[in-house]
Amino acid sequence: MATKTGEGFSSSFGAIMAAAGSAVGLGNIWRFPYICGRYGGGAFLMVYICFVFFIGMILMMSEFVIGRRTGEDPVKAYPKLKPERPAWRFVGLIGLITCFLILSIYLVISGWTLNYFYESAVGTLASIQDSDFGVHFNEFASSVWRPVLFIAVFLALTALVVIGGVEKGVERVSKLLMPILVVLIFLLCIRSVTLKGASAGLTYLFHPDFSKLTGEGILAALGQALFSLSVGMGVMIVYGSYLPKDENILKTSIWITVCDFLIAVLAGVAIFPAVFACGQDPTGGPGLVYQVLPVVFNSMGTIGRVFSIIFFLLLTLAALTSAISLLEALTQWLSGEKLKRTMSAIIMSLIVFVLAAAASFSFGDGIWSGFKISGLQIFDFLDKATGTILPPVCALLTIIFFGWVMNKEDIVDELSNHGTIKVGYFKVFYYFLARFVAPVALLVVLVAGIING
Ligand code: TRP
Repeated sequence: MATKTGEGFSSSFGAIMAAAGSAVGLGNIWRFPYICGRYGGGAFLMVYICFVFFIGMILMMSEFVIGRRTGEDPVKAYPKLKPERPAWRFVGLIGLITCFLILSIYLVISGWTLNYFYESAVGTLASIQDSDFGVHFNEFASSVWRPVLFIAVFLALTALVVIGGVEKGVERVSKLLMPILVVLIFLLCIRSVTLKGASAGLTYLFHPDFSKLTGEGILAALGQALFSLSVGMGVMIVYGSYLPKDENILKTSIWITVCDFLIAVLAGVAIFPAVFACGQDPTGGPGLVYQVLPVVFNSMGTIGRVFSIIFFLLLTLAALTSAISLLEALTQWLSGEKLKRTMSAIIMSLIVFVLAAAASFSFGDGIWSGFKISGLQIFDFLDKATGTILPPVCALLTIIFFGWVMNKEDIVDELSNHGTIKVGYFKVFYYFLARFVAPVALLVVLVAGIING
């Protein structure tokens, strides 16, 4: 990594962009709108904001501290900070399992996105009537081979990059592409809110109706906050270990959290007005983005077609950068002295491909839709496990470790960069948020959500 020059791309900028790149992904653009729509719109958003800033951001800081303090991956970081209790490394292991499951569901959605890119490019989407996009999506996603083919292509690309180790290039490309994606979403927002009947969508998103909020919805908001920030699975411990020693952890965490949050809300503003303008159902589920955005693109004429191609391409690339970091983490863990990197990447890819294909077969009316795990189809089960259950469990353990097991002096030292920056917020952060508010809230929401769900 380059040394800090004070201008242009400094090392700290690179580290922040890498962590932000992990945070911003399909979670913001595909998952947030559909979960927000399913669990009540405005009221969900209010709860989501609280979780993002009072739990998600606190966790990000904690994971950064743990990572930078030890310079290790999650499995080694916990025991390094507390050698007399090596069992803590299981928290790192749960995180890895979460990453593995996330990758499988990520591949399915990335495959959909790649297909939509293809269909924009060849003109299929432009020839579909507005009212038929729902049917089109369901037919595609429930079909047998087409989604799997796109999953395979996407996974092959991901694995090639991981094996080739051209990470530097990817990082550079994604730094350039992510801002373009944000500009594009911004333009979509403008188009969406100027559609006829759009205001109902803004009301749905921003006007909280707390009667719509359920215990399950609150747990989903917590899960979404953690999923979207990539916390509660140890990934930010890895990025923390890359953070330069003079980087202000508080500032970095605030930046990433705010960016991630705003992009999710922007995606909401792009989607909900269009949902209402075309009389669709906001609770439509995982296909929401793919059923609604094509309608917006088609309403823009020829330029819409260009937009559609660029949008789905950029979304595919955003998904690719996240998928790469997930596969990279898993590959690194699997490879050791005996197993070469290339072999590990291939083995991991094959295992995760089988799971992704199973999730795809089970989606909607797919051939395996009848097969259920605790009442849910494989796809829904994986989505719920990785977006609602596992990150909160892992987050709870992480924050307990941070607030109650880890040495307080280490934390102060790390947050203050060895006493060089002021940490006036420390008392509130440590004694109030990290030790009490976050763990208690996590525990209550988790228990209540599981009992009610
Ligand atoms: N935060 C990512 C998103 O919103 C998803 C994600 C969760 C992720 N954990 C991760 C991405 C680990 C990369 C690495 O899309």
